[in-house]
Order: sequence, then C-alpha cells, then structure tokens
Amino acid sequence: MRLLVTGCAGFIGSNFVRYYLRQHPDDSIIGLDKLTYAGNRANLAHTDNDPRFRFVQADIADRDAVGPLTEEVDAVVNFAAESHVDRSLLDPDAFIRTNVVGLHVLLEAARQAGVQRFLQVSTDEVYGHVPAGLADECAPLAPRNPYSASKAGGDLLVQSYWHSHGLPVVLTRGANTIGPYQYPEKVTPLFVTNALDDQPLPIYGQGTAVRDYLYVEDHCAAIALALHAGAAGEVYNVGANEEVNTVELATRILDLLGKPQTLMQHVGDRPGHDYRYSMDSSRLHTLGWQRRYDLDATIEATVRWYQENESWWRPIKSGAFLEYYRRNYGPKLAGTTP
Ligand code: NAD
Ligand code: DAU
Repeated sequence: MRLLVTGCAGFIGSNFVRYYLRQHPDDSIIGLDKLTYAGNRANLAHTDNDPRFRFVQADIADRDAVGPLTEEVDAVVNFAAESHVDRSLLDPDAFIRTNVVGLHVLLEAARQAGVQRFLQVSTDEVYGHVPAGLADECAPLAPRNPYSASKAGGDLLVQSYWHSHGLPVVLTRGANTIGPYQYPEKVTPLFVTNALDDQPLPIYGQGTAVRDYLYVEDHCAAIALALHAGAAGEVYNVGANEEVNTVELATRILDLLGKPQTLMQHVGDRPGHDYRYSMDSSRLHTLGWQRRYDLDATIEATVRWYQENESWWRPIKSGAFLEYYRRNYGPKLAGTTP
C-alpha cells in the first residue's frame, strides 16, 4: 500500500510513520506537513535514509499541492490539525482553517483521485464532557471548545463524503495520547519538563478533570488496524479505559522524578473545561485491538523518554513557546481567564 500521511511531523503522525514502516516493510509513505509551530522535521529523523519515505512540506488546504499527491497513493491518513485546546481559546482562526477547510480540500482531492481509503484521525473530545458512563460511537457530538468543535465539524464532513460520494472513509476517535515527541504544551510533557527544571506544574482549577491517557504506540496500532480492517463509513473509538485526574497524573510524574509534590500549583481553570472524557472502545476490540501499555507503563515510558531526550525538548521551550506560555498562563496565575 502507498500512503499519504498528513501531519506526519507532529506528535502522533511521526510516531505513526515510525510504527507503520516497521510493521509494513513493503509499503511506502509520502509524508506531508506544513511544519507549523507543532511540526518538527527532527521527529522524522528515523526516515532520513529510508527509500520508502518521502517528505513534502505543504498545507493540506493547498489544492495544487495536495491534488497530485493523492493521485500517487492508495490511501490517505490525516493527522494534520491544530490540536491544542488552550490555543483554540486564544486564536481559533487556524483551527477552522485547517481542521475544517483544509480537511475539505483533502477530501475533495481524495475523492477526485479515487483513493481506496481515507482515514480521519479524530478525538474523544467531539463527544464533549461525559459526566458518567461511556460514550460509544453513536453518542451525540457535543463539543464545547473551538478545537473540539472544529474536529466535530471535520468528522461530519468526512462522513458526508461517505454518504454522498461513496468515498471509503474510516474515522478513529482517540483518547488523550502521550509518549515521545509530544509538543510540551500538552499537560503530560509540560508537567514532566517543568518538573525536571524544578518549575511549578500549573493545575487548572481543582485538578479533578479526568482523562483516559493512551500510549502513542497503542494509538498508532489502532489507527493502522482501522486503516486495514475497519469497515468503510465506520467510526472506531480508541480508549485505554483507565481514568486518572490531573492531580493524580502530576503526583505520579513527580514521584517518578523524585520531585516534591509542592511543585503543584493550582491556577485559574480552562474556560469550558471538559471534566471527563470516557469512551466505549468495544467496536475496535472486535477488530482485534488491545492496548499493550497499562496506565503505569504509559506514564513511566513517557516520563523516562523526556528525561532521556532533553536535547529534543529544551530548544522547543524557548522563544515563541515562552511567549505562548506567558499569554496562556499569565492570566491563569492571576486567577482570571485569558
Ligand atoms: P500535533 O499538534 O503534535 O501535530 C499536528 C501536525 O499537523 C503538526 O506537525 C503540524 O505542523 C501539522 N499541521 C497543522 N496544520 C497543518 C496544515 N494546514 N497542513 C499540513 N500540516 C499541518 O498534533 P497531534 O497531537 O499529533 O495530533 C494529531 C491528530 O490526532 C490531530 O488531528 C488531533 O486532533 C488528533 N488527536 C490527538 C490526540 C492527542 O491526545 N494528542 C488524541 C486524539 C486525536
Ligand atoms: O482527548 C483527546 C485530546 O487530548 C486531543 O484531541 C487533543 O488534541 C489533546 O490536546 C488532548 O486534549 P486535552 O484537553 O485532554 O489535553 P491537555 O493536555 O491540554 O489537558 C489535559 C488535562 O490537563 C485537562 O483536563 C486540562 C489539564 N491541564 C492542562 C494543561 C495544559 C492542566 O491542569 N494544566 C495545564 O497546564
């Protein structure tokens, strides 16, 4: 199979390229990425001498760039997105441009090229806050922030291409994913790298918001399985089903690093904070997927990677990152919202 993997230089996309080329030695990948602040060529260093991989720097919203690439492949796997909730509260425009308009350009190109499969990487956030029980794939979409609203809009567009045009789409909705190469704006790498520098860990509100942390390799395995074995037009939830709240996450990280719990600092809450995500992933289990990393292994593998790869994250936590940090956390430290 020849794949077009968009958003290949980001966190999950780069892990997926690594995982997929290892698991499918006869397949090849064209990797496309705009290289926004979150995209990093260094995440793809493992492909440097691999003839099965070709990198193209482009925007998924650029018809002229995307069209010819979809003609060269059998399938598209779309990771390209603006992905951070807090940034969507500060600057929502790019979220609509990429997660809705860009996605539409990619869908049109895939339809015109007649690709055999279009896999859209989506998120549990589209179900919104789930106060109790589990959201299955038929649960209503109820996004509550601009990021998740743009992803939900994207999901509806993708499904419309199945119903209207018969484009063989598959959607995966993954839980909060952690592991190597995650940009340190997201809670886990932020907490680990702040702790390594003896800096405070900013806990939003009471720190009782629950997430279902999933190891990135397990998420990549689920996406690859859905790509090959998923039914056209279908949605597959990808959850770990082991919930933990922010204070518990911070406690585990600080314990693993031998740092004091006093580094936790409660700050103003995220507006529209979804306090719980939880999904029923039994549909994916029927395809044969099981996670390989439990919560302990997921957190430990992640913490150790950041401990051992300071040369990757330290240059990122400078310049524009610090400007973002001040914008997002300054008002929260003052007890207001940005
Ligand atoms: P990320 O922010 O680390 O990476 C996104 C990548 O997309 C970056 O390399 C960026 O340069 C690229 N990109 C952004 N806009 C682009 C554009 N217009 N054209 C081409 N490339 C563009 O994100 P991530 O955490 O790796 O998430 C990847 C996908 O998985 C997203 O669609 C996200 O919604 C979804 N997802 C993420 C998680 C999670 O916990 N991280 C969980 C479930 C689903
Ligand atoms: O669940 C899937 C989603 O997971 C993905 O779709 C998103 O792309 C990804 O960013 C992630 O979204 P979350 O909102 O769950 O992740 P984040 O790391 O931003 O926050 C996780 C929890 O930690 C949330 O309850 C807010 C809290 N938090 C976050 C940050 C950044 C803090 O308490 N302090 C922080 O500084």
